[in-house]
Amino acid sequence: MSDNTFSYDVIIIGSGAAGMGLALSLPSHIQIAILSKLNMSEGSTYYAQGGISAVLDDADSLDSHRIDTIRAGAGLCHDDIVELVVSHGKASIDWLMANNVQFSTNKNIRSNNKLHLTKEGGHSYRRVVHADDSTGRAVQTALNEQILNQSNIKIFEHHNVIDLVTSKDKKTGKKRVTGCYVLDTKKDVIFNMKSPCVTLATGGASKVYLYTSNPDVSTGDGIAMAWRAGCRVANMEFMQFHPTCLFHPEAKSFLISEAVRGEGGLLLLPDGTRFMPNFDKRAELAPRDIVARAIDHEMKRLGIPSVFLDISHRTAKFTKSHFPMLNERCLSFGFDMTKDPLPVVPAAHYTCGGVMTDRNGLTDITGLYAVGETAFTGLHGANRMASNSILECLVFAKQASIDITKFLEGAERSSRIKAWDDSKVINSDEAIVVSHNWAELRQFMWDYVGIVRTTKRLQRAKHRITLLKQEIEDYYSHFHVTSDFLELRNLVTTAELIIDSALLRKESRGLHYTLDYPNTDDKNFKKDTVLNPSK
Ligand code: FAD
Ligand code: SIN
Repeated sequence: MSDNTFSYDVIIIGSGAAGMGLALSLPSHIQIAILSKLNMSEGSTYYAQGGISAVLDDADSLDSHRIDTIRAGAGLCHDDIVELVVSHGKASIDWLMANNVQFSTNKNIRSNNKLHLTKEGGHSYRRVVHADDSTGRAVQTALNEQILNQSNIKIFEHHNVIDLVTSKDKKTGKKRVTGCYVLDTKKDVIFNMKSPCVTLATGGASKVYLYTSNPDVSTGDGIAMAWRAGCRVANMEFMQFHPTCLFHPEAKSFLISEAVRGEGGLLLLPDGTRFMPNFDKRAELAPRDIVARAIDHEMKRLGIPSVFLDISHRTAKFTKSHFPMLNERCLSFGFDMTKDPLPVVPAAHYTCGGVMTDRNGLTDITGLYAVGETAFTGLHGANRMASNSILECLVFAKQASIDITKFLEGAERSSRIKAWDDSKVINSDEAIVVSHNWAELRQFMWDYVGIVRTTKRLQRAKHRITLLKQEIEDYYSHFHVTSDFLELRNLVTTAELIIDSALLRKESRGLHYTLDYPNTDDKNFKKDTVLNPSK
């Protein structure tokens, strides 16, 4: 039995744009721990390509950004949250620049080195600020440097948070967070961290699918932990598939940015025919749900393994200067995007649903916040518009920082939290169960809960989840936990939330498309799907 407790004013689980943004926005007298499953850069933020949306062009307007977001969200965006986020676009970009993020500027002398704005699906104007095609790397690297200079912030890399600890608030009788249990994966020891305020900034859950653009850490841990602790989650059926990931056995669904289409890239069938104009008048720049579904439709109709993305009509100089990283990575897989169309397929990319929060990032539990992709704020509705995610991370990091600062002034501090008890478990001799179940889960989620769904397929998936849950509970009560096991446990919980939400939505809307209910039913379903663990 271990009683090894660390104590902080604020614990932030996750070191991406949301976690780093929050830590840097809190006042420097607050003692902060940031935990990260692998190294501090390893999360979706680092891999972001296209950019961050913000209204900076004189011809553009906040109203247009707001309308585009709501249109992409297929009727489910919360107007007040959309307003909040889009109105903080410029301030968020200014904040990043003040923290040394270097964005691409117009190379043209007459433009006064203004920021270069690119375009992506659903946006009516050029409003995507970027650092070439490696925006996330520029953001993550600059924020890491700032964090490492702050003496009030301690980073714990290679630390996997297992679960939240809660108790009853003496004053209000409400549940409040008091800390978390943490597995130090390098030393293989479990210890407690104590704090009146914990923020989940754990990113998304796209690893629940066999093919995903996301890094390995995106296993829905924050959503699963919050659910186990008693928080409501919403809109989990809206898993976004990015239309264009490189089709190559070794590319691990490497993303080809939507900005390639924004700069003129066309989607083609193997015989060179363009097909997107048959599906939407915005063609290649329709919102992602529409483009991914069109590609899926054409691949199934023609029995082809991929479609093609072609930007070879632009000059090689243009392509190399706008997409240097993509050009280099594609060459390493044997494709020259300046000359040839790239084979592309859709892959799981973004979790639109998540832990329900208010406009300050606060969840149902006192002291527990959720920010970034793990949260459900109401911004994205049934389909996130491109480049609205990092913006959401930053806006809610700021909102949460103000609320947390006030909250800490009167927060009740726990004297002690119960130590992790592993006296009754042994080391596993059955690691194969974990790897087998990981593979099985991701395969059936891809086959049964993907871009096109049916009730029967969802029920099949639900049946398999029930079996997996039993095996996981059995494993959990007998064996020492490992990172792989913890991730599997969280993925299974998240998968069940996705399936249950999808079964409840008996219509098609945004990213949820089912052959059994192919139409949108505003009368009965123009509302969020809210799941409550206490019901
Ligand atoms: P992440 O950046 O994913 O960070 C999650 C953090 O949580 C990591 O540090 C991880 O280690 C930690 N963590 C998770 N679980 C635990 C645990 N149990 N214990 C401890 N730590 C844990 N969005 C845009 O707006 N513009 C883009 O151009 C763009 N391009 C993208 C390209 C790619 C390839 C991908 C994958 C996504 C892209 N997105 C883009 C989406 C966007 O990058 C993410 O939604 C956003 O960066 C999420 O930030 P985050 O801080 O919420 O999570
Ligand atoms: C991309 O560059 O296509 C990703 C943008 C996003 O997910 O917002």
